Amino acid sequence: MKKTDHQMLIIFGASGDLTARKLLPALYDLFKLGDLPDNYVILGTSRSSLSDEQFRKKVLTESGYIDLDKEDPEQVAAFAKKIFYQSIEGYESNYSMLAERISQLNEEHQTAHNYIFYLSTPPGVYKSIAENLCGAGLSQEEQGWSRLIVEKPFGYSLETAKQLNSQLLQYFQESQIYRIDHYLGKETVQNLLVTRFSNSIFEPLWNRNYIRHIEVTNAESIGVEKRGGYYDKSGALRDMFQNHLLQVVSLVAMEPPLEATAEEIRNEKVKALKSIRIMTDEATLHENTIRGQYVSTEIGGEKIKGYREEEGVDPESLTETYAAIKFYMDNWRWKGVPFYVRTAKRMPTKVTEVVVHFKSTPHRLFAGSNTDNKLIIRIHPDEGVLLKFGVKVPGQGFLVEEANLDFYYSQLKGSRVMEAYERLLLDAMQGDATLYARGDEVEAAWQFVDPILQYWKNGKDVRMYGYAAGVWGPENSNALIEGNYVWRNPGPNLADHPGYCVLC
Ligand code: BG6
Repeated sequence: MKKTDHQMLIIFGASGDLTARKLLPALYDLFKLGDLPDNYVILGTSRSSLSDEQFRKKVLTESGYIDLDKEDPEQVAAFAKKIFYQSIEGYESNYSMLAERISQLNEEHQTAHNYIFYLSTPPGVYKSIAENLCGAGLSQEEQGWSRLIVEKPFGYSLETAKQLNSQLLQYFQESQIYRIDHYLGKETVQNLLVTRFSNSIFEPLWNRNYIRHIEVTNAESIGVEKRGGYYDKSGALRDMFQNHLLQVVSLVAMEPPLEATAEEIRNEKVKALKSIRIMTDEATLHENTIRGQYVSTEIGGEKIKGYREEEGVDPESLTETYAAIKFYMDNWRWKGVPFYVRTAKRMPTKVTEVVVHFKSTPHRLFAGSNTDNKLIIRIHPDEGVLLKFGVKVPGQGFLVEEANLDFYYSQLKGSRVMEAYERLLLDAMQGDATLYARGDEVEAAWQFVDPILQYWKNGKDVRMYGYAAGVWGPENSNALIEGNYVWRNPGPNLADHPGYCVLC
């Protein structure tokens, strides 16, 4: 186990939802497991005026994200003692009060001048925070180290992402910047690397010679919930595809790194992202992209709101809640292999998985057999790996049937799957940036996504398809897939009627 230095975590935007919902529960779990260093301080900061005690109550004891009835009160109290709060006038004003509090807590708790600054504010103030931290001498690493964790969204477009990268780099070095993408903290996403690079049975087949196509599905059964205001300005492509799903694609497609280090792995991921063929002309964009929006329906007698009826959403909104993209990679390994990636809200179930479809055998010996091999890497739920292959049906002749070889993480006795934020926070505490996105990766992903967003905004023949909440997207979604193939839709379809339509 790596050593974790004494340190302080300073959370900007600490009165927001993320601190109570994700960060504090992850830190509490690390604390219970003895993974926090002995000298550790959590200092929340935001514009709200709160005392230490009020902040502790807000994010720990009253938030409801940690089930306190099941926890040892002494342990909770010991953890609460590590939490402090300091308000600031504004993110753009000077940080002398904050710097003073940091220095005082550092003295009192001996955190060795090691600081992680976590930006969980609206992205518009990221630059000012970095600048003010630098102004207060807190980005310099003279006595200890200083790291900056930046939450998504990282930019709104290629231009804004580039701008943000260069702004942050004025005040922090790239090696100090940790761009968080919580999908990289998921055990099963990391397992993509292990599946590929520690098994000699998969890697020789992992290329255009044996793989017909690759499918990535991210489906959520929930709608936009209370985040309509944010989501309506973002949409599925920015919210999920540009970051989480292209990160997954980069791990599926990358070349083997020279060694399992942050720099080598990220070098290969960025090469993979850069090799995605950028679609620029309208005809190509029209053929290879589908966007959709959920419309109201009834499931089991309950009325489900359509996207345009959600709180905070423009009633004439043209923001996509479904995005499916087909693309190619222009490199040696993947030439000619289509990648199909989709993400959507209000699907029949919550699932994220990668499906590798292998080519058929060169000569079909057994009539009627249709059992092309598939490797399914289930990111969640039921985390695991499933290999589908053909077996002979007992009896005369050679009837072939599909069988499964499966592995579920839940079968591993005595091991615990860490929650994504837990893993990522611990990595940042130990200075390991492997599971954080580098600036050039983020820009490469935007480079591909930008023209699609432009086309969806201004293109001539763009359509927004409606799909009833609870079905697997628009009626024409299978048309994206070449040949006689369709998306793999795990789980049953819960909706009463499909309600396919064209909204504009
Ligand atoms: C977030 C998106 O980044 O990821 C949300 O903003 C989405 O819209 C969430 O619901 C999905 O995360 P997970 O881990 O539940 O798949």
